[in-house]
Amino acid sequence: MNAVIKPSGKLRGEITVPGDKSISHRSVMLGSIAKGDTKISGFLTGEDCLSTIDCFKKLGIDIEVNGTDVTVHGKGLKGLSAPAETLDVGNSGTTLRLMSGILSAQPFTTRLTGDSSIQKRPMGRVASPLGLMGAKITSENEKMTAPLTIEGQSLHGIDYTLPVASAQVKSALILAGLYADGETRITEPEATRDHTEIMLNYLGADIRKEGDTIVVRPAAELTGKDITVPGDISSAAYFIAAALISKDSEVLIKNVGVNPTRTGIITAFKAMGGNIELTNERTVCGEPVADILVRSSRLHGVVIKGAIIPKLIDEIPVIAAAACYASGETVIADAAELRVKESDRIKTMAAELGRMGATVIQTDDGMIILGGIPLHGAVCESYNDHRVAMSVAVAALGAKGETQIKDCGCVDISFPGYFDALMSLRED
Ligand code: S3P
Repeated sequence: MNAVIKPSGKLRGEITVPGDKSISHRSVMLGSIAKGDTKISGFLTGEDCLSTIDCFKKLGIDIEVNGTDVTVHGKGLKGLSAPAETLDVGNSGTTLRLMSGILSAQPFTTRLTGDSSIQKRPMGRVASPLGLMGAKITSENEKMTAPLTIEGQSLHGIDYTLPVASAQVKSALILAGLYADGETRITEPEATRDHTEIMLNYLGADIRKEGDTIVVRPAAELTGKDITVPGDISSAAYFIAAALISKDSEVLIKNVGVNPTRTGIITAFKAMGGNIELTNERTVCGEPVADILVRSSRLHGVVIKGAIIPKLIDEIPVIAAAACYASGETVIADAAELRVKESDRIKTMAAELGRMGATVIQTDDGMIILGGIPLHGAVCESYNDHRVAMSVAVAALGAKGETQIKDCGCVDISFPGYFDALMSLRED
């Protein structure tokens, strides 16, 4: 599917975004290894989370999907059974990495694979520390990439410092730690999203924080519970950016997860001069939630680096798009992780914003965007990367003339209906 984006006038109105992708994945995974039913509402029915459901069904878990309501009939920590076929995680790194932690401790062998993008993404970062816990994970390739075979073993706790800030690796180790002998201690170089810790504690586990170290005690059992998934701030990010750069706009995004490990986008846009207010703040199932009110703003360039990077890692493509409309230079550094996402997002965003007339200079660990240069419509690629497609669409709203984005079906990975949602706010 190709999308055609015309320049926008004002964007006005109220909107909700689909459920949080990270929390949706975890609700199915943890619900499956909890005892009893977990009733999930607001589940993201994007392709990535449907891949997680499919994998757990193949591991013997009964899961019912009714729109965005999902019921997982969990069988407890030891209730998974050997799959009859290879598990397919599709495009989802979260599914593959988090499941590696669980599958490493099962009394059976599992083979996992995914699409061509996932088969290029590094899995050594989970296989090595899980190996230290006693796991046996092998790759069919020279590099540690999918397809992977995981032969379940009895695991033991480790004390491990992550070399890269990664919530996926941290979560895989936490999940393995539930099954291990003794305590598992994980130290992060920078704080990353803590949805796994929050949800596990909500379901009865004992996950504590000692400074930068997460301490996991083996769990006797988790208990299934109702889980309400808030809207995904990573999906709200496109509307935040779009409202900021469009003239005379005001958009209220309701019911968005605002866990402080995810709100780097709000901090960064505020530092750029963005008019953003959080209202109706509350806590739902242990997760902070709010409504986000955004108004058109005159943005200026900033430097974004260091500890904030993991808190906005998935939003850097759309920050880059908005930075084209800021005055002055925006520098993004310490974000080399972007090179191993669904696409190399430094390269792909520099290329696509470049096609629209922007000057984006790639660096090893980020990019420099020279703001204030008018953009023009172009024919752009998505690289089958959902966040690239959605970010290019935001950049196109402020460009002169029409932009075509090729192969946009990939938005269904995290945000089915994205283009209609964007159109619904236009007042032109
Ligand atoms: C995710 C963690 C992040 C993020 C990804 C989802 C998660 O990846 O980019 O989209 O749900 O834990 P890393 O942990 O690899 O940085």
